[in-house]
Amino acid sequence: MTPSLLILTGSGISAESGLGTFRDTDGIWAKFDWQRLATPDGFREDPAEVHAFYNARRRGLMEAEPNPAHKALATLEAAWVRSGGNFTLVTQNIDDLHERAGSERLIHMHGELLQSRCGACSDLQACRDDLSITMSCRACGREGQLRPNVVWFGEMPIGVDEIFSILPSVTHFAAVGTSGAVWPAAGFAEEAGRAGATTWELSLEAGESGHVFTHAVYGKATETVPAWCDRILSETFA
Ligand code: APR
Repeated sequence: MTPSLLILTGSGISAESGLGTFRDTDGIWAKFDWQRLATPDGFREDPAEVHAFYNARRRGLMEAEPNPAHKALATLEAAWVRSGGNFTLVTQNIDDLHERAGSERLIHMHGELLQSRCGACSDLQACRDDLSITMSCRACGREGQLRPNVVWFGEMPIGVDEIFSILPSVTHFAAVGTSGAVWPAAGFAEEAGRAGATTWELSLEAGESGHVFTHAVYGKATETVPAWCDRILSETFA
């Protein structure tokens, strides 16, 4: 069977790049109200407040750099594919640190902070500057319809059908830096396990689905991920 690796990442992999996690004690949702800032109702209620929240995170992302964990996953992808394996990186993160580290086979299931989407015509545009309610869509011209291309609570994540089409043939699965608190991502490890895959949790501590993994490595991602990438590659393609 062709070695098929699916890696799921969460905000913990970007923590050491200076970007916030969500559910840690000092996390984003401890400081900000997700119902006002990460739901369609919140955006309808006060779009300017939501834009200010994501504009601040976008500016913060411009100051951030990929860390050794992002780089190790990109190196692993290239070596795994070169060795004839199948590789998919699914991220819940909306930052572009995986891309900047060199990852290519990437699914942003919660969208991308550096993209805008028109609420009227769904046009997507690269977006590295602030968004506001006075801006107009380049495609349809409507004003006040632009939003970050980010999947909010209650909205359908991106690429889920593709991910569930890959999981039944996965031989190796790893969740890196995620609490396993948000579905459907929280169910991927169990799905991979049902396919007979070895499943790894790499985080600071066991997440909400910690019990379903066959292996676990706890510690900071910049320390655990590079060593894990070397190990899984040599064990699989020895
Ligand atoms: N190294 C490794 N893991 C870390 C590090 C680190 N330096 N710092 C934190 N972690 C771990 C935490 O232990 C936790 O398990 O990363 C995880 C972060 O969990 P959350 O804050 O819940 O973030 P995440 O799992 O990505 O949240 C999923 O929830 O709010 C939504 O859309 C948002 O994509 C996000 C989703």
